[in-house]
Amino acid sequence: MDKKDFYLMKKSGKAISMVTVYDAAFARMADAAKIDMLLVGDSAANVMLGMNRTADISMEAMCLFTNAVKRGASNSYVISDMPFGSDAEPKTAVLNAKKLLEAGADAVKIEGLPLKSLEAIRENGIEVVGHLGLLPQTAKNFKQVGQNEEEAEKILEQAQILDGLEPCAIVLEHIPSSLGQKISQAINAPTIGIGAGKHTDGQVLVMHDLLKMHPFKLPPFAKCFANFWEAGVSAFCEYKNWINEK
Ligand code: KIV
Repeated sequence: MDKKDFYLMKKSGKAISMVTVYDAAFARMADAAKIDMLLVGDSAANVMLGMNRTADISMEAMCLFTNAVKRGASNSYVISDMPFGSDAEPKTAVLNAKKLLEAGADAVKIEGLPLKSLEAIRENGIEVVGHLGLLPQTAKNFKQVGQNEEEAEKILEQAQILDGLEPCAIVLEHIPSSLGQKISQAINAPTIGIGAGKHTDGQVLVMHDLLKMHPFKLPPFAKCFANFWEAGVSAFCEYKNWINEK
């Protein structure tokens, strides 16, 4: 699968599936389920490393997670997040993007619109995924964005500028459903929503929310399809009892 397939899927109305994964075991699982795009998100900072902010993850850690995911994914398209600050300057952005490709990524995802860096990355033939709406690397809070006309217009404009760079897709995070629909109709690139309503061209969820792998409150837009937390705690208890009974 590659960019042209995602554009074709958008054209034919076939929904694109994306999920975050961070290691080979879960990448293998998502790959077996034929998930189209695996995102090595910088949410690894929170869900894998126990940090408070995605902005704290390093380039080295992102390369390590990307490498592990690539080993587990034989078919799915692998996208890696450029960590906070790694895309600030065009030259270093290209070098950092190349590091993620060397680690196994097919494309890099960039939050917001650091235009010069995005252009430099594209000029070097590197595939890119955009990320607009709520931007966790720099957000002051996790409220929905794009609720007023001015903010909505700005996000739409940013999506149109990004569209001109022919990205593989644009992730739209935590915006009103009507805005998700408007952007999806206005641009050629596929849109992948997370809390952006049902009209985007695809959907993405963080694996730890989708599988309910933690005891924490889920974001309002997250949907659980399993309860790994309960299953895991219960298995560890059984294991402990088994040891005690020996
Ligand atoms: O890092 C991440 O998990 C993401 C998703 C929220 C799309 O960017």
